[in-house]
Amino acid sequence: MGFPVQRPRRLRRSELLRSLVRETDLAAGDLILPLFVVPGRRVRHEIPSMPGQFNLSVDEAVAEAQEAQSLDVPAVILFGIPPAKDAKASGAYDPHGIVQEAASSIKKEVGNMLVVADVCLCEYTDHGHCGVVRGDEIQNDETLDLLARTAVSQAKAGADIVAPSDMMDGRVAAIRKALDAAALEQVPILSYAAKYASGFYGPFREAAQSTPKFGDRRTHQMDPANAREAIREVLLDIEEGADMVMVKPALPYLDVIYRVRQAVNVPVAAYHVSGEYAMLAAAARNGWIDRDRVMMESLVSIRRAGADLIVTYFAKEAARLLQR
Ligand code: PBG
Repeated sequence: MGFPVQRPRRLRRSELLRSLVRETDLAAGDLILPLFVVPGRRVRHEIPSMPGQFNLSVDEAVAEAQEAQSLDVPAVILFGIPPAKDAKASGAYDPHGIVQEAASSIKKEVGNMLVVADVCLCEYTDHGHCGVVRGDEIQNDETLDLLARTAVSQAKAGADIVAPSDMMDGRVAAIRKALDAAALEQVPILSYAAKYASGFYGPFREAAQSTPKFGDRRTHQMDPANAREAIREVLLDIEEGADMVMVKPALPYLDVIYRVRQAVNVPVAAYHVSGEYAMLAAAARNGWIDRDRVMMESLVSIRRAGADLIVTYFAKEAARLLQR
């Protein structure tokens, strides 16, 4: 039975009808706001390739988390730019490191806010790689110990969730074991399980000063051509103890988000990354697209593909629109 009995337009005639039959929702409660924390006080330095996003000193990061909280955004994810970098990434697991200080200040000063700590060494190594380097090779197993120390020190400082983004093999197991040994068995792991070697991280690397000095990340991050491998990565991480898994980037990988959602029962997150933000921000600035509209369309598409949670630089802005 087709037309004229079937008229899909009937249900699109008014906003009330459209909203009555809408399949996917987007809520502030699904969003996580990334923050880039730098040394100093009262520092709020705009990131050139990410207009509207800032490098923030701890006091300013607290203010930003406060504002996110007032907009019903439930979580921030912290990235640190340490005062000094070295070959062992000492700043990553320093009990008074930049992320540790930010985590403890936010937990102390902002009520009702989850702090997620990104676990990776690339912002802390002088060569910009995600692990210990020998010759021109990133050492997997040696790196695990440093990642585990980093996660434990972040959790001790108050981080509610740790989120390894380095893509070393076995890091979820190493982190779970170390957390449990430190009586932090209640701290969940959000694993960046399917993280692709992507050009869309460009602006982030400017913000975090983490561009590798030589080579690239293709020996540990995934090949953009692979989707089945994402399922393998996700299942391995869940087996190792991941409580939630992430796909990253988001929009160019909606099919991967969809496949992962079908394959697992744990919450699935997607990271709408810096390059995705920069593209929209730049086009909107030129008046070529409507910023609000394209932002909301992008976020709802990521939810429609199957993501439960979205890490996005638009978290505050989207939450503000959702309040109206
Ligand atoms: C690694 C990390 C990166 C991002 C999040 N965690 C960069 C990388 O792998 O080079 C990228 C996030 C973004 O582009 O918004 N610490």
